[in-house]
Amino acid sequence: MIAAQLLAYYFTELKEDQVKKIDKYLYAMRLSDETLLDVMARFRREMKNGLSRDFNPTAAVKMLPTFVRSIPDGSEKGDFIALDLGGSYFRILRVKVSHEKKQTVQMESEIYNTPEDIMHGSGTRLFDHVAECLGDFMEKQQIKDKKLPVGFTFSFPCRQSKLDEGFLITWTKRFKASGVEGADVVRLLNKAIKKRGDYDADIMAVVNDTVGTMMTCGFDDQRCEVGLIIGTGTNACYMEEMRHIDLVEGDEGRMCINTEWGAFGDDGSLEDIRTEFDREIDRGSLNPGKQLFEKMVSGLYMGELVRLILVKMAKEGLLFEGRITPELLTKGKFETKHVSAIEKSKEGLNKAKEILTRLGVEPSHEDCIAVQHVCTIVSFRSANLVASTLGAILNQLRDNKGVGRLRTTVGVDGSLYKMHPQAGFGTQAVQRPGSRPALPAGTRRLHKTTRRLVPDSEVRFLLSESGSGKGAAMVTAVAYRLSEQHRL
Ligand code: GLC
Repeated sequence: MIAAQLLAYYFTELKEDQVKKIDKYLYAMRLSDETLLDVMARFRREMKNGLSRDFNPTAAVKMLPTFVRSIPDGSEKGDFIALDLGGSYFRILRVKVSHEKKQTVQMESEIYNTPEDIMHGSGTRLFDHVAECLGDFMEKQQIKDKKLPVGFTFSFPCRQSKLDEGFLITWTKRFKASGVEGADVVRLLNKAIKKRGDYDADIMAVVNDTVGTMMTCGFDDQRCEVGLIIGTGTNACYMEEMRHIDLVEGDEGRMCINTEWGAFGDDGSLEDIRTEFDREIDRGSLNPGKQLFEKMVSGLYMGELVRLILVKMAKEGLLFEGRITPELLTKGKFETKHVSAIEKSKEGLNKAKEILTRLGVEPSHEDCIAVQHVCTIVSFRSANLVASTLGAILNQLRDNKGVGRLRTTVGVDGSLYKMHPQAGFGTQAVQRPGSRPALPAGTRRLHKTTRRLVPDSEVRFLLSESGSGKGAAMVTAVAYRLSEQHRL
């Protein structure tokens, strides 16, 4: 054998060896299809409990009615503002929907910072900040003298009894501002705007980001009836039959339900698959004991999960010849974007070397292969778990429609879904000029597992091209139209 071949042979052997070792070590994180099907069945039961009047008060998965009753029908039009708070960024958008020959949408947006001291300070300060950013945006758009209808994408669990009211049940992810839980966020925002007195706004709707995403995608694909977020947090919504929603009067038609599946497991129902690393993540979080499914899946926690695994493996001498550095021991030093970089098929190993070197652990080539495999296992588990819960929603939709085979579209958004390479989720959307953004068919882990778990379905995953803002504007447009009719 010539040198290069020998080297390749050596590395292949090395790789297989390493991979097997890690597979064995992280056995509990590798979920079989049997387990995934079981998780899917458990989540289906959770959905049922959340929808029922008797079990809802104690259900972990809240299945919140959103008062959104249909996806866009193409007749919406107007000039709207959409606020988007709770994801990776705080965005404000202006969305103009017009009807020339066909419906067209024009959007302009700005991203604003939300510093940590504001996310963790008083609720009054947080909403003052939102109102201040909105004022700045209106100034820039030169619309301070207008009273445009506003749609508020607020990506947290809210109890609603109508579209323009949302009582925050509990903060999740990075937010923990005081005095907001239990309060109506529309009222808080209105109060902050009034206090300023330099502009006026008409907040027409509070919309979860899942709902905004479903509506955004529904604009392009009428079959879209599920909204999915895999980003800082994870969650999904879908169109449920009114007759199954005990908490809302009436049996006709459908209503969108925000599942808040991040809280799946908060009643102990996932204890058999949670690992010591999941428990450690939870202990160190802002909301211990809550959002346990989200903590196994989403972007806010994935890097930290990998770091905890690496620390333990290093302590046991399985990595870095047992070297442990203060950097490696620092919470947050290994980020989710590092997991994504390391998993890239071509430059992944170089990235691993770079990132681990920055942590001061002097990695060998073998270490880099091992760390790459750890990242793959953690992100595969995340994608697999999402496939299970999504599978439960798809089965519910299929049973609701009483069809043998379900044809549907899932609108998707979220930083993790968009940025993660082949292993877990999608790569960046591939878009042909003039076409809708779409992911390469069938090649992605989440897509593949979903199709395997729900074989009697034809699911299209549609990446939301513009986040949830357009959708929030659509909801607002419908609300506005209805309120105008009401005023006439
Ligand atoms: C968290 C929030 C939920 C949101 C999701 C994605 O799970 O509780 O409302 O949809 O994150 O942003």
